[in-house]
Amino acid sequence: LAGDQILVVSNREPYIHVATPNGVKVQRPASGLVTAVEAVMRACSGTWIAHGAGSADRETVDANDHVPVPPDNPSYTLRRVWLSKEEEQGYYYGFANEGLWPLCHIAHVRPVFRSTDWAEYVRVNQRFADAVIAEARSDNPVVLVQDYHFALLPRMVRAVLPKATIITFWHIPWPNPESFGICPWREEILDGMLGSTILGFHTPFHRKNFLDTVDRYLETRIEDEASTVSYGNQLTQVKPYPISIAWPDEIPGEPDIAACRAEIRQSLSLPADQLLGIGVDRLDYTKGIVERFEAVERMFELYPEMIGKFTFVQIAAPTRSSLDEYQNLETRVRGLAQRINDRYASGTYLPIVLKTEHHEQRQLRTYFRASDVCSVTSLHDGMNLVAKEFIAARDDEGGALILSQFTGAARELHEALIVNPYHIEEGAEALYQALRMPRDEQRERMRSMRRRVRDFNVYRWAGRMLQDAARLRQRERVKSR
Ligand code: G6P
Repeated sequence: LAGDQILVVSNREPYIHVATPNGVKVQRPASGLVTAVEAVMRACSGTWIAHGAGSADRETVDANDHVPVPPDNPSYTLRRVWLSKEEEQGYYYGFANEGLWPLCHIAHVRPVFRSTDWAEYVRVNQRFADAVIAEARSDNPVVLVQDYHFALLPRMVRAVLPKATIITFWHIPWPNPESFGICPWREEILDGMLGSTILGFHTPFHRKNFLDTVDRYLETRIEDEASTVSYGNQLTQVKPYPISIAWPDEIPGEPDIAACRAEIRQSLSLPADQLLGIGVDRLDYTKGIVERFEAVERMFELYPEMIGKFTFVQIAAPTRSSLDEYQNLETRVRGLAQRINDRYASGTYLPIVLKTEHHEQRQLRTYFRASDVCSVTSLHDGMNLVAKEFIAARDDEGGALILSQFTGAARELHEALIVNPYHIEEGAEALYQALRMPRDEQRERMRSMRRRVRDFNVYRWAGRMLQDAARLRQRERVKSR
């Protein structure tokens, strides 16, 4: 693909310019998608098309809505697309986040489908497709489409650029055909996605669910072995590509583990030998934060010797907060933390510390390095990169990871303590086991998980997709001779 133009499309932008009393500041969003794709874009340049949602975004672009990023050392272009209030409401909050998000996650939140939202979703997909077409410098660019916000876009781009190589990656789970089938526009969604050259999911399981869904609702020919769907005159390769993180280089001057432990305990006014648990998530009902707190409470009931000795820090970045379900969740999470604290706090001791303010990547890493256990208890998750970030931060090979069996990550990180997050008793036992895990056992488990995440890093994820794309492009070139 050397020399070919690469265009990325996602809803969330990698850099958000916000107006503050002290001038314009740049923020990084809390998004697994952005973390992963940004690493790749830094390495291969190109243009990233995304929704300009920051309060100072318009002030920082040129006449073509372009801004070079990363701001301190530009290596690629961010092209912002502006959305009206109605578009954002219908397409992003409405169809994407009240419809497709709960539909695909099956976290027992009922999806909402409004035809007005759908109309905006169609319109915004077309607007982003137009932006892709406007940015394309040839008739066959490589377009990397990200996630459930753009199910229709592959077909729309294909209609104008039939020779484009369109790689669509679905960052969230794909449910079984029965579950997906309640979507009133299921055929349109599937048809849109099958405009892609390559369609990627995190796990073989999600890939299979997708193929079963296509088989159920569209007239297609599926070649299971070759992993292709042929529909109309389009052939789409459907494959699993598990996403990952950029393995961090050694960070010069980074405080060692002992210093991180001391720093965090001091900042929370905890004694130096306090046992610490950490959770880092967006404040989302798919993340199992309530269940995680319940497991902490249950552990205190079962093992009262832990009261006073153990503190759980939850960092929960608010998102999508104008939606009812997210407001309800925030109330529940705050209420539960309060209840557990009322029950077990004493003096300066708090069993649960809930932090909802923005945290930089570097601060999160210090928390990971300072903790005895990291808890990832998603009720359902495409991959979950927090689990991998925690592992990457532990160059001492210490700490224990509790991991939900319903994450894509659990299919790779077998040495974690795997739990069913709905089973509170099991969660409490896993937490107790993690906190008492001998150093040797931590090391043994960590070592093999670290090896795996280092080898299967995000460049490998992107590399495998781009390699497959290069192979298909080569085949096309030979055919058209
Ligand atoms: C998940 C989705 C991403 C999304 C991220 C943050 O990881 O797969 O597409 O960007 O959540 O959500 P938000 O709605 O704040 O962008």
